[in-house]
Amino acid sequence: MNSRKRRASQGLPRLIGRSGWKAHWTFVLVSFPVRNRTHNPNKRWPRISGVIHGCMTGSGWHDGLRCSYCVSMSRKTILVTGGAGFIGSSLARRLLAEGYGVVAVDNLSSGIRTNVPDGAEWIEGDIGRAETLTALPVRNYAAVCHLAAQSSGAVSMEQPVYDMQTNAVSTVLLTRWCVERGVKRIVYASSMAVYGNPPQSPVNEEAPLSPVSYYGVSKLTSEHVLRLAERAGVATTALRMFNVYGPGQNLANLRQGMASIYLAYLLKGETVPVTGSLDRFRDFVYIDDVIDAWMTVLGRASTPSLAYNLGSGTPTTVRALLAGLLAACALPADYPITELAAPAGDQFGLYADSRRAGAELGWRASVPLDCGLRRMVEWAKSVRSC
Ligand SMILES: NC(=O)c1ccc[n+]([C@@H]2O[C@H](COP(=O)([O-])OP(=O)(O)OC[C@H]3O[C@@H](n4cnc5c(N)ncnc54)[C@H](O)[C@@H]3O)[C@@H](O)[C@H]2O)c1
Repeated sequence: MNSRKRRASQGLPRLIGRSGWKAHWTFVLVSFPVRNRTHNPNKRWPRISGVIHGCMTGSGWHDGLRCSYCVSMSRKTILVTGGAGFIGSSLARRLLAEGYGVVAVDNLSSGIRTNVPDGAEWIEGDIGRAETLTALPVRNYAAVCHLAAQSSGAVSMEQPVYDMQTNAVSTVLLTRWCVERGVKRIVYASSMAVYGNPPQSPVNEEAPLSPVSYYGVSKLTSEHVLRLAERAGVATTALRMFNVYGPGQNLANLRQGMASIYLAYLLKGETVPVTGSLDRFRDFVYIDDVIDAWMTVLGRASTPSLAYNLGSGTPTTVRALLAGLLAACALPADYPITELAAPAGDQFGLYADSRRAGAELGWRASVPLDCGLRRMVEWAKSVRSC
């Protein structure tokens, strides 16, 4: 009789399985009943007698609990693309605070390295290139939050090929990576740009999708790519965010983000150039509200719908936004502003009907614009004085 059979016949623990990745193992010891043992209904057989977990790294064998690799594998990890950007870094911060592991990948084209919170694993790389994905660390990825993008409508009209590569090809590569690696969840940063210039607002998710910029086209293309991933077993959700604003927005990027661009000029004491009519209108939604929605969605294995609008539901003209910023900065209402021609691909006005997010996710925006702008101005003044 070999030793395994002998241990089993004596009811002694025996090794029944080993699982492992790279140099890491988990041994599970299980006891089985012997045939002539007195039946005891309080005892459940077989019983797990012990679990030994260990790993062999360059420095030798050690307890798995002290190995950062093992620790990172044992908790849910989220891959955040665009993790050095405005929304991606806010999301990464919140995920870490709620106990997730975070791998942040970004090529720093508009993101800032210091935005990436401590505790996130940092990878610098272009997500539109397959090599970057191949080199991503092996982790227990619970989901991918795909926020990396060229995020300016105006830039997309000047560099459409670059926009497609960054915004649409990246989604193709990432969804295929998820299928290959068995990652079951993607949440995608889509945009109100998919609607173009709708004849009426508020727009709900059933409104015609008719983008007027390459940026809108690449965002919509990504949504279609997500549908293919869904068919391959990846649960996908696209969050169509409207104009997100708040602390952390890049004040040095004068091509994207109305509130941040105007605020940057106000803080420098310069005339505010407004490209397009002051009568255009937008739906401004505060960053913390948006992150609440991402966290809600990530807390679910899937969502009933593929796409959700995230907006405040309140239209605000560019004129009213400027008035709000002037008030928050304690500047006079007649501060110099110049109205310039609108760039190609600009949307005149739209605001969100977010009732689907309310009904299916229990989400609604809660921070009023004047309050959000005050917080943003306080933050902007604090970082400028550092
Ligand atoms: N801010 C908004 O109002 C808004 C509204 C709707 C949708 N979105 C979308 O949300 C996402 C985040 O937007 P944001 O406001 O934080 O913009 P952002 O520019 O601050 O963040 C985008 C990040 O992606 C990174 N990036 C760009 N190309 C990359 C590439 N090829 N590989 C790796 N990283 C790359 C940038 O460096 C940046 O850090 C974007 O997808 C954007 O299109 C933003």
